[in-house]
Amino acid sequence: MSLVYLNGEFKPIEEASVNVLDRGFIFGDGIYEVIPVFNRKIFRFDEHMRRLETSLNKIYMKSPVSSKELFSIFEQLINSMEEYDQSIYLHITRGVSDRDHDISIANEPTVFAMSRPIRKNNLYLGVKAITHDDIRWQYCDIKATTLLSSVLLRHKAKEEGSREAILVRDGFVTEGAASNIFIHLDDKIYTPPKTNHVLPGITRDLLIEILLDYKIPLKEEAISVDMLSSASEIWLTSSTWEIVPVVELNGNLVGEGNPGPLWKEVNILYQEFKRNYCN
Ligand code: PDD
Repeated sequence: MSLVYLNGEFKPIEEASVNVLDRGFIFGDGIYEVIPVFNRKIFRFDEHMRRLETSLNKIYMKSPVSSKELFSIFEQLINSMEEYDQSIYLHITRGVSDRDHDISIANEPTVFAMSRPIRKNNLYLGVKAITHDDIRWQYCDIKATTLLSSVLLRHKAKEEGSREAILVRDGFVTEGAASNIFIHLDDKIYTPPKTNHVLPGITRDLLIEILLDYKIPLKEEAISVDMLSSASEIWLTSSTWEIVPVVELNGNLVGEGNPGPLWKEVNILYQEFKRNYCN
């Protein structure tokens, strides 16, 4: 039977519940990670742990569980499931306190983790996307659970028959509502640099590593809206999506309106890396 982890205990999800005064529920006062598992192996665990640590530091929290403990928790969750490809969701809040903005009154963080199957849903065939104002806050480098703006942005995309909203701040692309972005333009790949407006994606960093290894020209440079609309290929990356080609942007075809030749090449390299890592 698949189990979840909550504050030191493994249990069926129906039996897991948190206090209504948990600051995660009241304020969205917490951070999270999504960590992919391929062939039952945790992918890029150390990199996810480093980002977790950074997110916690940025919200003035210390990790209530060590990486070693988390690894063992994740292994138990994975083993309680049949699927080979899963995504672990880890959620840490500042815990229960009186409803008061003051963070110093909370002293027992809540730690929740679950694992779910990864379902690919033909994403490799390409997705449609829209552009939208980046309506989020200034701390997008924190993987915060406070996700209302991202939820609304995904809904706006869905209303227009699209899977993702590509976000634009002051004329420049930041990322997707729940993904990082790469474009192919004039024989180069571009991705926006890491700033406080971009989540430092683990898949983004791995793709950069692969592009550099294979000497595919890459620029970590701001992408203007004009560059985006002239791009011959647009890719979105995330731990569960991996590398997904965008085939239509705001109703216009990207390139030929199919996953592009460079995406095909790069996706093979990525899948090969994954196979070697997870076998
Ligand atoms: N989202 N940017 C944003 C805003 C994200 O929410 C995500 C991932 C990414 C990609 O990061 P990574 O490669 O580490 O998954 C970029 C996860 C999957 C989610 O919220 O479900």
